[in-house]
Amino acid sequence: MNPESQFHYRNGALYCESVPAASIADHYGTPCYVYSAAALRERFARIRDAFSRWDALVCFSVKSCSNLSILRLLAQQGSGFDIVSGGELYRALAAGADPAKIVYAGVGKTREEIEYALRENIYFFNVESRAELALISEVAARMGATCRVAIRLNPDVDAGAHEKTTTGKGNTKFGIGASEAALLVQEAADWPGVAVRGIHLHLGSPIYETAPYEAALEKVVALIVRLRERACQIDHVNLGGGYAISYTGGEVIEPSDYARAVSSYLENLDCAVIIEPGRYISGSSALLLTRVIYRKQNDYGKSFLICDAAMNDLLRPTLYDAFHRIWPVQSKDGMPAVIEPGEREIQGFTTELVDVVGPVCETGDYLARQRALPPARRGDALAVFNAGAYGFTMSSNYNSRPRPAEVLVDGSGHRLIRPRQSWADLIEPERTCL
Ligand code: LLP
Repeated sequence: MNPESQFHYRNGALYCESVPAASIADHYGTPCYVYSAAALRERFARIRDAFSRWDALVCFSVKSCSNLSILRLLAQQGSGFDIVSGGELYRALAAGADPAKIVYAGVGKTREEIEYALRENIYFFNVESRAELALISEVAARMGATCRVAIRLNPDVDAGAHEKTTTGKGNTKFGIGASEAALLVQEAADWPGVAVRGIHLHLGSPIYETAPYEAALEKVVALIVRLRERACQIDHVNLGGGYAISYTGGEVIEPSDYARAVSSYLENLDCAVIIEPGRYISGSSALLLTRVIYRKQNDYGKSFLICDAAMNDLLRPTLYDAFHRIWPVQSKDGMPAVIEPGEREIQGFTTELVDVVGPVCETGDYLARQRALPPARRGDALAVFNAGAYGFTMSSNYNSRPRPAEVLVDGSGHRLIRPRQSWADLIEPERTCL
């Protein structure tokens, strides 16, 4: 495991900063998301610093992790926010976000959401269609407001992400193609209520190479040059998110690599730069703690660890075939530095091949399949690593399972930042309608 990681083994026990993970599992119960404040701060600083040459505004992507305490912690570090709904705007503001640092993407902004964002005077609307720009113009003009707009360019670039999270290709619903964007920006110069000042990109998530950013920026630069020739004042470029993390514990591309790759494109543009990292900041800053409820071995040679965390708590393995390292919280020899998908044995450790599954009634309910793990017993706590991005935010109440608790560790302190739902919480909204 990365030595500077805030999640590490000491004397056979997993720690989050200075707090033993086992004591968190005992104290708050499982399943439970455990975030490290130090990791969140460190990763925010690292990506901000990588892009410091342009003094880039970092807008943390709220969809990756939207707990109010975490948004507040990041706002205190100077973070702005990337939102995609009125609900996310409401959350960000409740957490203390500065509206002047909020950028708003998404293909389906409703009139109500647009009015709300205009009232709050957010920094940028990242517009994804002509129809949306027309509505924003109409609503803003009626409110006597003028808002800044960036056109989300669909550059038709394949970012190599999972097909469900690749957003920069021409066959997806996102953004506007270069020719249409050029025409629209010129036309909209005469529209009331909107000032088109930027070009926005978001290519997909996660992106493990720099080439897609370079290919897309090539198109952004050409578009901006063309627009400036026609006297359109484009002075902002938003590179979006997609910055990768290591799910295996191995080497992975760093923010400085992305920054270096885009620098020649940004060099002569003379634009303010915005980035929208989500996963890079939140992903490696949390783990999901779960306990083994039962062990089960069937007649057909399969072994299962049936755990109290399920697909409703962490959807990524079944939705994207995503790989998350899993390891017992107590492990006398610690944890291997790197675990690769498909490894059937792990050198230096005695392991068994198991499926790590939850109690949900679907075959797709798993956290890992055919995974080499040290033999675990009933009641043992396991940690699912790199679970901070798109973990809790994609959780659901499927099978009427309460959403898990969220805990924030800071040094030797820890506190609940969202209580586990109760059964009563689950039925309350409907009970009042009975
Ligand atoms: N900006 C926009 C406009 C986005 O749509 C997204 C993510 C981001 C920024 C942040 O991307 P990041 O830096 O976190 O890669 N649920 C999937 C990921 C979906 C990403 C959606 N958009 C997963 O669990 O992998």
